[in-house]
Amino acid sequence: MSESPVIVALDFPDREAAMNFASKLRPQSCALKIGNELFTAAGPELVRELVARGFRLFLDLKFHDIPNTVAQACRSATRLGVWMMNIHASGGGAMLQAAHSAVAEESQRLGRPRPLLIGVTVLTSLDAPALAEVGVPATPQAQVERLAALCASRGLDGVVCSAQEAMRLRDTHGSAFCLVTPGIRPAGAETQDQKRVMTPEAAIAAGATYLVIGRPITHAADPAGELQRINQSLEDQA
Ligand code: C5P
Repeated sequence: MSESPVIVALDFPDREAAMNFASKLRPQSCALKIGNELFTAAGPELVRELVARGFRLFLDLKFHDIPNTVAQACRSATRLGVWMMNIHASGGGAMLQAAHSAVAEESQRLGRPRPLLIGVTVLTSLDAPALAEVGVPATPQAQVERLAALCASRGLDGVVCSAQEAMRLRDTHGSAFCLVTPGIRPAGAETQDQKRVMTPEAAIAAGATYLVIGRPITHAADPAGELQRINQSLEDQA
């Protein structure tokens, strides 16, 4: 089987719940995402543990600070052995550049493959009035495109985006640019609080590289079975 594009969001409150769930999955079947809730509760030890079990780990901490601080945070994440990490593109070109150089240098020093460095463009919780409130007069779509171009120009590997935005970004940035898309719901699954959802098959067809999927897998009665069903359906489509 080729590498699965599925990244399962470990949205759990503590280490025990996260490890209990992760032990149901095989590292060959998916990558795992640790975000702010779980990292703040369980810390880097959990990251090391899951990396040691062979999982590709996406550290979703969305760093946003002065260039030196973000660069050092990215160095720390590189030392943890993560496969992917992200930073806010709105931190500016100098911050993106510093992060990129830090990740490249640190992985070279360690003799390890360079983790993927992904930009967060516009949070999907922000609409045009919310952007205007923080002094950004652009539409969310125009701002996403502007920030994605900034990420590409500073050597980042890709961006987080909605599957709806994927097709356009794929056209602009070519096949090597990673598009990491949340808001994925298999046909028939509950949408919960996600407003605009796409099926895994449609998101990949629209140009997504990786699919972040949380509750449809974490809340499933048989998480490994649901993941297997999604992977199989994507393989059949390839
Ligand atoms: O459970 P669900 O599939 O909705 O989880 C999606 C994951 O992707 C969550 O960890 C959520 O925080 C994250 N995410 C998102 N929308 C974004 C960025 C991240 O849903 N725009």
